[in-house]
Amino acid sequence: MTDKRVSGFSKLSKTGKIKWIVNNFFKNPEQVMKELTRHWLNDQDDQEIIDGLSENTISNFILPYSVAPNFVINGKEYAIPMVIEESSVVAAASYAAKYWSARGGFRTRVISTIKEGSVYFFWKGDFSLLTAGLTELDTLIREACAGMTARMEERGGGIIQIEFIDMEEEEPGYKKLNISFETCNSMGANFINSILEEAAVVMETWFEANELDKKSDEPLQIIMSILSNYTPKCLVEASVECPVSRLTEIQDMDPQTFADRFYKAVRIAEVDPARATTHNKGIFNGIDAVVLATGNDFRAIEACGHAYAARTGQYQSLSTCTIEGGIFRFSMMIPLALGTIGGLTKIHPMASCSLELLGNPGAEELMQIVAATGLAQNFAAVRSLITTGIQKGHMKMHFKNILWQLKVTPDEEAYLNQYFEDQPISFAAVHDQLEKMRRKTE
Ligand code: MEV
Repeated sequence: MTDKRVSGFSKLSKTGKIKWIVNNFFKNPEQVMKELTRHWLNDQDDQEIIDGLSENTISNFILPYSVAPNFVINGKEYAIPMVIEESSVVAAASYAAKYWSARGGFRTRVISTIKEGSVYFFWKGDFSLLTAGLTELDTLIREACAGMTARMEERGGGIIQIEFIDMEEEEPGYKKLNISFETCNSMGANFINSILEEAAVVMETWFEANELDKKSDEPLQIIMSILSNYTPKCLVEASVECPVSRLTEIQDMDPQTFADRFYKAVRIAEVDPARATTHNKGIFNGIDAVVLATGNDFRAIEACGHAYAARTGQYQSLSTCTIEGGIFRFSMMIPLALGTIGGLTKIHPMASCSLELLGNPGAEELMQIVAATGLAQNFAAVRSLITTGIQKGHMKMHFKNILWQLKVTPDEEAYLNQYFEDQPISFAAVHDQLEKMRRKTE
């Protein structure tokens, strides 16, 4: 038996890493070696950039890069880049974009752009001693961080507010020094975390200078300093609306029936977490795809979105629907902490391409584009669910993938297309039908 543990793996060359992997984990090392190296980029510089993004990289994992055209957002036209592996998502976004472009397009607005982070600590003294000294500590922190905040301040951002928050009710002794930030066009994670770590040092010194530990059963214990990915104050709204009578061209469903069924589908997602999870997953199909294409952190966006969806104490739909005075309105409020400078946005060659495709937006414009894409996706998914069901569309794409996997000829494809027009599609069914056809023509 081979020993599948290794020390010093990170120090091996890329080829050395691949050799160790293929020899230890694969039945056919040469074939896998070829597969892994086949996906290296031809451009050495680009490959080095990608390798530099992570550790122990041995190859690239390719995902489709698609475009959803015909989005009209606040009167401006966009073709939106989407990176996603799931079939039907881009088709659905494109459908909804076109549908709403003929009905006034998407309206969006940024409500606020504040991000927060905390120095998390335990201290068992009187909370009012902290609030009484806050003005002094605030000044000390701003002075200590001046070098770090200068450039951000020039761009109109920086530290917004510093405050102590008592978390005693949640956990004895638990408190936090909360700092809110404006990070302009950058997502700002590094900026925020650097300031928080500096603030922790300043706070510790300030505690010593004010002999605060003498006034507590237990001395100050700083646990950690980190931004919060929960950004409910970095909020954007997207909506579409039109008279119910204009909800035409929805299969053969009349506008009023469609509006009523759509409203009820969204209500179900508002009151039932089991449905809300899938409903919101559909929203994130759209959101994640643009977030990824523009080099932003989709895990942060997802984590925040789901936490926000549970802000009332019950996990709910992120979108909502109203029908009032004959007007159908479908809207969504969602926190999206995005950046268009810094991070991957300019490093990843495809992220810069996406941003250029979008007209090099600032962070606020990107928030609105992403929110509109999420709402479009949600509209298209719910429309399918309450009319034909989603399988029809999914199966069409799935069928194409099956044909590709079975390496059919154009003639075979034409025959199978016709045969499966009214037959249930599965890999096995297509495979069997193809075999039958091939046997007949032998
Ligand atoms: C599939 O990826 C997403 C949907 O399930 C979303 C929804 O049910 O609303 C279609």
